[in-house]
Amino acid sequence: MLGSVAGKRLLDLGCGYGENCRCFSQMGCIRVVGIDISQRMLEIAQAENRAPNIQYMNMPMENVSSIDECFDIVVSSLAMHYVQNYDLLLKDLYALLNPGGILVFSQEHPLTTAPLAGAKWIKGADGKVDHYRLTDYSRTGKRTVSWMVDGVIKYHRTFSELINGLINAGFVISEMEEPVPSAETIQRLPQYMKDLHKPNFLIIKAKKP
Ligand SMILES: C[S@@+](CC[C@H](N)C(=O)[O-])C[C@H]1O[C@@H](n2cnc3c(N)ncnc32)[C@H](O)[C@@H]1O
Repeated sequence: MLGSVAGKRLLDLGCGYGENCRCFSQMGCIRVVGIDISQRMLEIAQAENRAPNIQYMNMPMENVSSIDECFDIVVSSLAMHYVQNYDLLLKDLYALLNPGGILVFSQEHPLTTAPLAGAKWIKGADGKVDHYRLTDYSRTGKRTVSWMVDGVIKYHRTFSELINGLINAGFVISEMEEPVPSAETIQRLPQYMKDLHKPNFLIIKAKKP
């Protein structure tokens, strides 16, 4: 979805260990800025995924408007569902992008973030997964989950909120993906069959005209 990044200036929101930043650098970006709220993640990024054209910055993406430069590409892998004010973030990102620039981000799928009690698969009498239990889809807002540690806060947004936020910020949506395991993967690893009931991730590409 990114297309060629050669010669581009790229901002990575919630870059974590910086693995993607290093890839973008190797793929030809002239400048990569990776920001993350976690100093610990960035220490590992500095140690393991350093390059002369990568700069890591310890800051919440809620503060991106303080960055004093523009980018051709903004990416974010599995981090934007941690931000409460999605609409404001999108307006800030729009301002940071050069005309013709793109925003490509992935997040947990709205069907995954929906249940207040956390994602739950229901098994049949044979012990195999029968279906996904979707609840609370229209109850948007805060979700507190356990992921590595207890008390991780993320935000559930409906599809229309995600799309309207982009439209209202001025973006044109150019592509969306809801990736699921391939037939080959399922044949090799049958436990992934359940992911055909619902995708776990949503990826959106949007353009600043
Ligand atoms: C699931 S990890 C993804 C890391 C990386 N993007 C990847 O795909 O490997 C989410 C990352 O987002 C960061 N994060 C969470 N909330 C954030 C915020 N408000 N601003 C910036 N980074 C944030 C976390 O510290 C973590 O490194």
